[in-house]
Amino acid sequence: MSGQFDFDAPLERRGTDSEKWGRWAGRDVLPLWVADMDFAAPPPVIAALRARVEHGVFGYAQPDDDLTRVLVEALGRSCRWMIDPDWIVWLPGLVCGLTVACRAVGVPGDGVVVMPPVYGPFLRVPSLVERLVKPAPLAGDNVVGWRLDPGAIEKAAAAARLLLWCHPHNPVGRAWRLDELAELAALAERHDLVVCSDEIHSQLLLEPGATHVPLACLSESMATRTITLVAPSKTFNLPGLGCAAAIIADADLRARFGRAMAGTVPHVNVLGLVAARAAWSEGGPWLAELLTYLRGNRDYLAGRLASLPGVTMAAVEATYLAWLDVRAWPVPDPHAHAVAHGLGLSDGRDFGAPGYLRLNFGCPRHALAEACDRLAIAATALA
Ligand SMILES: Cc1ncc(COP(=O)(O)O)c(C=O)c1O
Repeated sequence: MSGQFDFDAPLERRGTDSEKWGRWAGRDVLPLWVADMDFAAPPPVIAALRARVEHGVFGYAQPDDDLTRVLVEALGRSCRWMIDPDWIVWLPGLVCGLTVACRAVGVPGDGVVVMPPVYGPFLRVPSLVERLVKPAPLAGDNVVGWRLDPGAIEKAAAAARLLLWCHPHNPVGRAWRLDELAELAALAERHDLVVCSDEIHSQLLLEPGATHVPLACLSESMATRTITLVAPSKTFNLPGLGCAAAIIADADLRARFGRAMAGTVPHVNVLGLVAARAAWSEGGPWLAELLTYLRGNRDYLAGRLASLPGVTMAAVEATYLAWLDVRAWPVPDPHAHAVAHGLGLSDGRDFGAPGYLRLNFGCPRHALAEACDRLAIAATALA
């Protein structure tokens, strides 16, 4: 352990209501799938939660001016985005923000542009509110890299009012460059699209010196047509506490978003608010060490996978998620094949990409080494 925080510490998560660890409970399957990390939250977050629990009263909660100030300052610090506090709409989660955005924009039957492979709910939530999914698949692959396909977006946008954008991108790990954002912005403007930009992974940039530019900062027009979704949950490993926010500069769009929430979206729970405040205001030193540790994990994983038959890994510029192409494996169900070899990954089919697997490397290095051993056995069994 070289820093102040011990990310190598083994943690028992079985029997803690963990979705990740419960899925293959009772079997010798190492679960590296759903996107939470096998690390304890930053110590100031745990201290703040302890103090709040000690109080013992858990009535209805309301984000106060101090939490708003903390979020405004966090966005200013992390990506130099100076927002007006009035633009903030608090949410109990990001996915619910995606659904509300789909409901708030357009009418039933309108199209929503999505760019698979992409985080599964992007592909599923539009139809929950009677919108039509208009796919504009990303171009490229794990070897040449993933990029936008402007032609596909043009085609998909023709019948659409909304575009769901993942920035940085889960699962392909791209931290989009300014020229790519500008290209997307031009398309959105030309087709008069509202863009819902999911920026939940924006503080998990693994390239030293990389910066995140919120899509809403690209131009005046993007500022008014973008719904930006942010949360402390991926960065500080708090997803079970459900606290997020939509940042919407345009008053009319914000009002429509608010109406689409009414009666269905609950308040953020009191512990989520407490955790978010502590994470955004005091989590910096922990995050700096986490990023160093994740870079080490990414490089270790890339090194181990380089020699495996039938597996390629995308360059991970951001997130703690590795996107593996195993289409060369001669099996009908690569996910089941990995599970049979003791490794529980996310199935590419959930992202609209059969033949791919997603590996969550937000775990202690010794667990990642074990995962690599199991993956090597799974891959060589087929060679
Ligand atoms: C891109 C992206 N958006 C949203 C979420 C989930 O957000 P929430 O748990 O707040 O609904 C995830 C979780 O993995 C994600 O990767």
